[in-house]
Amino acid sequence: MVIAIDGPSGSGKSSTAKGVARRLGLAFLDTGSMYRACAWQAAEDGVSDAADLVALARAADLQVGTDPDDARVRMNGTDVTEAIRLPQISAEVSKVAVVPEVRGELVRRQREIVADTLAGGRGIVLEGRDTTTVVTPEADVRVLLVADPDARVARRHAELGEVVDVAAVSDQVIRRDRDDSTVAAFTEAADGVVVVDSTELTLEQVVDAVVALAGKVHA
Ligand code: DC
Repeated sequence: MVIAIDGPSGSGKSSTAKGVARRLGLAFLDTGSMYRACAWQAAEDGVSDAADLVALARAADLQVGTDPDDARVRMNGTDVTEAIRLPQISAEVSKVAVVPEVRGELVRRQREIVADTLAGGRGIVLEGRDTTTVVTPEADVRVLLVADPDARVARRHAELGEVVDVAAVSDQVIRRDRDDSTVAAFTEAADGVVVVDSTELTLEQVVDAVVALAGKVHA
């Protein structure tokens, strides 16, 4: 069983993918964490040239955990699980994700993780921007998770804590949408991809919806 979930920042795809993986006993892969790890290494090395970014991605010793309860990320020997969530990485990551050869390299690694997981007799839930269309277009279940911008801003705000100004969070979400729109076409569902709108749903209800789609596959 392979379940692919794409969506914009703040749509809840990460929490949903983890929830589905837990519920169905599947592995979990946050593909965005791999772009973030490359952005972290680029910041460490002070590089921003496309050619340097490609070399960095190809040479990386990148280990991504697939346990939904402990998906730790190690980049060239350093545990970067927390560091890759910092705002400066969020602000820089689309510059890395926009380079086609970086994408090619990371997609190759993502497919390898999926193949290894399946070979080990386990299914997997992947989430990102292009998992339904590029990484695993053959997935059993493909979902585009959407939510109104206001709902996404409110969720991000709740995540970051009340100390952060809503207007600043709103700017951030809008900027991420704009930057990411150059990266992969994820705002329109491709053929065969089911759109789930989470605006009015709780996380539990979104997980239920995806689990129900998975239940139909072998029914
Ligand atoms: O989902 P996220 O916010 O952690 O994603 C981080 C960045 O990586 C964001 O700029 C979009 C990009 N990304 C991508 O281009 N393709 C993916 N499959 C996942 C993320």
